[in-house]
Amino acid sequence: MDLGIAGRKAIVCASSRGLGRACAIALAEAGCELALNGRDPARLAATAKDIRERFGVTVHETAGDLNDPATREALLAAAPDADILVNNNGGPPFKTFGAIAREDVLAGVESNMLTPIALVQALLPGMARRKFGRIVNITSSSVRAPIAGLDVSSGARAGLTAFLASAARSHVRDNVTINFILPGAFATDRQRSAIERLASERGVPLATAEAEAEARSPARRFGDPAEFGALCAFLASAHAGFITGQNILIDGGAFPGTF
Ligand SMILES: NC(=O)c1ccc[n+]([C@@H]2O[C@H](COP(=O)([O-])OP(=O)(O)OC[C@H]3O[C@@H](n4cnc5c(N)ncnc54)[C@H](OP(=O)(O)O)[C@@H]3O)[C@@H](O)[C@H]2O)c1
Repeated sequence: MDLGIAGRKAIVCASSRGLGRACAIALAEAGCELALNGRDPARLAATAKDIRERFGVTVHETAGDLNDPATREALLAAAPDADILVNNNGGPPFKTFGAIAREDVLAGVESNMLTPIALVQALLPGMARRKFGRIVNITSSSVRAPIAGLDVSSGARAGLTAFLASAARSHVRDNVTINFILPGAFATDRQRSAIERLASERGVPLATAEAEAEARSPARRFGDPAEFGALCAFLASAHAGFITGQNILIDGGAFPGTF
């Protein structure tokens, strides 16, 4: 399918690895010009080079912490008239409920609610004027079903979801959509660290913890980041202008509810 977005400009936050990188690749395949970001400049440069070589699209690099307003300004300056925004950021660390301090909550709200909101607020007016905008927020399956130890993540992301719910409805008339993708367990570095932590807590080999985690999934496997990127590119496509304010789970059937 031709996604109808060749030549469109896309900002993909936190995109040097993992799910963000997969979204960037799928958008590059659709012919988008990209503005990418990540804290480690070398890793970001390697991803940008790989995408340029594979797809021949222009890729801007903004290295830096997305939670720093200066990084966000630089990222927006690389694509001030972006048509597509993929909001992504590092996730809060795993912490047992009793160990969560006020500072942890503030940091999670900063990275997974306030930072994405700031980027939406910066780009939405221009998208509405130009009558095209696609905003895709990467949140988590924990917005729908709790995951013990990820309470800060769940709370901040649910806050983002509710905060943008009204804007999603009031901007669709201008062909600007705002949607949320809720990943379950995907094979990324973040997922690997979680499994490493589990393995060391339980004193079992990494391969055992990994196999157990895969066996818990109805799909009997982790998600492939490319599957996530393809969904993101579809939501960013010209064909998705009638989909807005939706929370789309991509979890291999892990969520147990019928609706
Ligand atoms: N993978 C899963 O199964 C899963 C499930 C549910 C939710 N999620 C959420 O989805 C998001 C992406 O997860 P992932 O698995 O792709 O993570 P990942 O493999 O750890 O990749 C994270 C990416 O974000 C960048 N990044 C992290 N913190 C940043 C910051 N403060 N500023 C700028 N860039 C930053 C990293 O690059 P640098 O380290 O160089 O900055 C990297 O490119 C996270 O919020 C995660 O919690 C993931």
